[in-house]
Amino acid sequence: MSDRYAALDQRLQDIDRRGLRRHLRTLQPTGATTARLADGRTVQVFCSNDYLGLAQDPRIQAAWAGGGAGSSRLISGDRPAHRELEDALSLRFGRPATLFGSGWQANLAVLGVLLERGDVVASDSLNHASLIDGLRLSGATRIIVPHGRPEVPAGARLAVVEGLYSMDGDRPDLDAWRGEHWLLVDEAHAVGAVGPGGRGVAADQGVEPDFLVGTLGKAYGGLGAFVVGPPVVRELLVSAGRSFVFTTGLPEGAARAALLALELADDERRERLADRTRRLRQALAQEGIPTLGRDHVVPIVLGPRAMAVAAALLDRGFLVPGIRPPTVPPGTERLRITLSAAHSDAQVDGLVQALSDSLR
Ligand SMILES: Cc1ncc(COP(=O)(O)O)c(C=O)c1O
Repeated sequence: MSDRYAALDQRLQDIDRRGLRRHLRTLQPTGATTARLADGRTVQVFCSNDYLGLAQDPRIQAAWAGGGAGSSRLISGDRPAHRELEDALSLRFGRPATLFGSGWQANLAVLGVLLERGDVVASDSLNHASLIDGLRLSGATRIIVPHGRPEVPAGARLAVVEGLYSMDGDRPDLDAWRGEHWLLVDEAHAVGAVGPGGRGVAADQGVEPDFLVGTLGKAYGGLGAFVVGPPVVRELLVSAGRSFVFTTGLPEGAARAALLALELADDERRERLADRTRRLRQALAQEGIPTLGRDHVVPIVLGPRAMAVAAALLDRGFLVPGIRPPTVPPGTERLRITLSAAHSDAQVDGLVQALSDSLR
């Protein structure tokens, strides 16, 4: 019996040897942008995707009432709150919206219903793991396009990009990605936070993609996701989206919290986030610290010393993760700062000071 799990031990050791072992860090939030670590230290959090500072809002937390759905929405788990949220999202995005338990599930379902074996898909090389897995599962032929180059082969069925890339913090030129093929834009890091009405980068660029994926777990501060597209896609998702059909519906509270978040995520909060972004990026530029992108995701490429700098920042009370391979290519290890509308001037200025000291 002692080697019953020997193969698994071996696998873990391999992960360890390659420096890929990951560890959880438990945080107890103490405010919108602060938290207590397990050892009692309080840190300023600069790595949450709660971009509008909604997750800790007492009104949102109070909206998290009600029970679990108890089954798939297709069995006995469909609730009025699900319908109200889908109606609100459909109104905001101008086409039918379908709810999912997470962005991961949304991407698996939508790629599954859009594609068949033999279809050709162009996919940006920096696309999120859920898009990669969704494409793999669909059986379509994937053409991986170097990041940011809108090169879609003739005859392709679909091009897949993100609205705001989570590790490079940049936006694609969506107009250049359009063509005969369909366009799917995953706006996980953009909805709520940017664009008119928080409709994301596509709306900001005046482009209507065929299909849009948004999350409720980032700028909207809760849990879940949605797919926006033509009415037929709504029907396909409900009938054949495997991660819609064969999974428990969102808890009612998650839908109620998201409904409230849609209301609270207003232009004032978005402007406040944009202002935090300008303040941080300008201060870093003044210190001679280059950044990628222009939005509230602020990557600083440092190479192999990124992890040591992240550790030095933590010693000074700032939680900013170092990102290393395989998440990013070797040599482009980086700090990934994310901003919240709730960060104060003092927090932003303190981070820049700590970073510039740590780099020296
Ligand atoms: C681009 C992108 N798509 C999808 C997801 C998955 O979203 P969720 O966290 O709601 O599963 C993420 C989240 O990390 C993401 O960055």
